[in-house]
Amino acid sequence: MWPDPASKSAALYERAAQVFAGGNTRLQVWVDPFPVYAEKGSGARVTDVDGVTRLDFTNNFASLIHGHAHPAVIEAVTARIQLGTCFAMPTESEILLGELLCDRIERVNEIRFCNTGSEAVMIAMKAARSHTGRPKIAKIEGAYHGMYDYAEVSLDSNPDNWGNAPRAVPFAAGTPQGVLDDVVVIPFNDVEAAERIIRANAAELAAVLIDPVPAMCGMIPASPEFLKMLRTVTREIGALLIFDEVIALRLGYRGAQGRFGGEPDLTTFAKIIGGGFPVGAIAGTREAMAVFDHRNGKPLTPASGTFSANPVTMTAGLVTMQLLTPDCYDRLEALGDHARQRIAQAFADSGYPGQVTGVGAMFLIHLHQRPITDYRSAYRRPEEAAGLRALHGALLKAGHIISSTGAGFLSSVMTEADLDQFGEALTDSLKNLASANGKDD
Ligand SMILES: Cc1ncc(COP(=O)(O)O)c(C=O)c1O
Repeated sequence: MWPDPASKSAALYERAAQVFAGGNTRLQVWVDPFPVYAEKGSGARVTDVDGVTRLDFTNNFASLIHGHAHPAVIEAVTARIQLGTCFAMPTESEILLGELLCDRIERVNEIRFCNTGSEAVMIAMKAARSHTGRPKIAKIEGAYHGMYDYAEVSLDSNPDNWGNAPRAVPFAAGTPQGVLDDVVVIPFNDVEAAERIIRANAAELAAVLIDPVPAMCGMIPASPEFLKMLRTVTREIGALLIFDEVIALRLGYRGAQGRFGGEPDLTTFAKIIGGGFPVGAIAGTREAMAVFDHRNGKPLTPASGTFSANPVTMTAGLVTMQLLTPDCYDRLEALGDHARQRIAQAFADSGYPGQVTGVGAMFLIHLHQRPITDYRSAYRRPEEAAGLRALHGALLKAGHIISSTGAGFLSSVMTEADLDQFGEALTDSLKNLASANGKDD
């Protein structure tokens, strides 16, 4: 069993290290000393190549809302694959998924599919620039929006470089100064400071981008006052408001915007709308989406992709979203509440200092008790980050998978009994961590 050097996962990692820089092709899934390799998944559980089955709270980083290999998704996709997987032609499947999302979400009148959330955010930013003729994008300090250069700015700024007022800090080495110059960084949920910064850049600002529940800002929701300010000020200065609902769509039948308000011009989706297959989408009001319309010549924002709207993804996404009824959302909400209660209980029972945040069917574990209001207050000190990695490892050994940053994303096929089991494993793991740290008294 992981992390046994004689395990099959260890042997696979040795082979991976020969062909991949750093031994992996996806930074997110790296685990020290080597990752657990998956063999198969069914429902709420994943079985690894050594035959160990664990309860999976990652659900491929929030992309599987009904767990692994849901029978309805598998049946529809299997039928679809036999008819061909991709064409240089549109298919009805994209219209069906498009109609569903446009019907559900008020400010989604039109939609355009792509292949990842990163791509969706990139295209949304380009659309905002085309729409306004302005270069700059404002984003929340610390918020993750995928891999586009502009979206990555200030993703991992730290106390040594974040400055008094947030400044644009490069994420990837070699990020051009021009990129940093065109990203305006604003603090999460600080109405006054954010408004001041936005207004100072008003003439050059194409859009403000916000994930309404940014995990890196502590997985707490944007306040109604903050969202209201963003909407009012962007309208006033002629910039667009972009919601990143790549993860947050899992928070409401009518989108996170239906739950929290905000009235965005553009919204990005990904993850659950692909039903377990690669996907992304840019959506919005007819006015904002007009930049993609080619009918009067070259569109202001040309957007295409070889695999965009492929019928396999569209089919899996449609079945997944059809299963995601208002009742199903209620169930996910109840599961999320139960999970957070169990985690809080585990901290109380173990005596380990910590807390849990989250909304709907997602949670984030913090190994400190400081109040969490934004990126800076949620920022993990080195010993806390190390503690979370240790907790992740301990839970893997106990049969549970959370992210190595303490995040969990529930699926509709989980049960209260699963969560109780997790609560017990978490209590034991925290107790062990406490004694390893000499923290218990
Ligand atoms: C809020 C948010 N936006 C964008 C992305 C990027 O999506 P993808 O990994 O599909 O490129 C992510 C991925 O986790 C995300 O959480």
